[in-house]
Amino acid sequence: MNLLKDYIKSQILKLEGTKIQEIQAKSNILAQHYFNISKSELYIKDISLSEEDIINLDSMFVQLYQNKPVQYIIGETYFYNDKFLTPPGVFIPRPETELLVDCALEFLSKSKDDLKIIDFCTGSGCILLSIAKKFPNHQYIGVDKSGIAIKTAKKNRDSLGLKNVQFFNQDIFKYNQSKADLLLCNPPYLAKDEIESLEQSVKDYDPLSALTDFKNGTSFYKYLISNFNKLIKKNGIMLLEIPFSAVTDDIIAINTDFNTNKSLFYKDLEGKNRVIKIY
Ligand SMILES: C[S@@+](CC[C@H](N)C(=O)[O-])C[C@H]1O[C@@H](n2cnc3c(N)ncnc32)[C@H](O)[C@@H]1O
Repeated sequence: MNLLKDYIKSQILKLEGTKIQEIQAKSNILAQHYFNISKSELYIKDISLSEEDIINLDSMFVQLYQNKPVQYIIGETYFYNDKFLTPPGVFIPRPETELLVDCALEFLSKSKDDLKIIDFCTGSGCILLSIAKKFPNHQYIGVDKSGIAIKTAKKNRDSLGLKNVQFFNQDIFKYNQSKADLLLCNPPYLAKDEIESLEQSVKDYDPLSALTDFKNGTSFYKYLISNFNKLIKKNGIMLLEIPFSAVTDDIIAINTDFNTNKSLFYKDLEGKNRVIKIY
């Protein structure tokens, strides 16, 4: 009899010595997803595998062997309090972006209802939808130039059953529909020449246009910060995720040179500046 536990052990043995990191955690995620079980069930239960299970699990582990991110193998990612569809072609939400959600929730907890909240570069919609779930009485707009991202964001919205959220397939540099009370953005912020030094699984699988502006990494910040008054309503704010990378100092310099408003940095758990609020 083939037991799942033994199957996982044998896959881990095969993966050891490859460049793939966090093998145990990733193997568990694949098995949990396939059987729709929790981590404790995975350890406690003695699950026996049919021939069909083995074929299906094998095809997932082959992809892991190729260093494909588990989020793309299973097609979903946990972010904040929910699970979001993230098929290949859609940027995988990163845990550090949850700080942007916290900053937005802090602002909204002190605001009246019926505000306009816009999320530029929305990707899977994870930031906007996490906020809309907590504060449903506002109007939400997500914008992304990737067709597959917008299609996925709409599916994520529908599975969370959220109303008042619209997504538009558009280039943010051409967006001129309406001003926001709260504008959020986690833009592509790597310089073109930083791509080569990225971990293989990121470089090979995350969409390039989600990672870099194909210039020096600061284009989105320069545009958003210098157009604050065109994009933001009176008493509104802008919250932008910023990287800890080669371009961090350039973004801080752009804020000094082009921002005529007030600004504040929020730090992540490692004490690094992660979000800039402009108000
Ligand atoms: C770093 S990802 C962020 C996705 C999502 N907000 C998140 O935090 O998981 C950047 C996103 O910007 C989108 N993007 C890149 N250039 C854009 C542009 N000019 N206009 C609109 N969206 C753009 C990409 O398609 C990608 O979904």
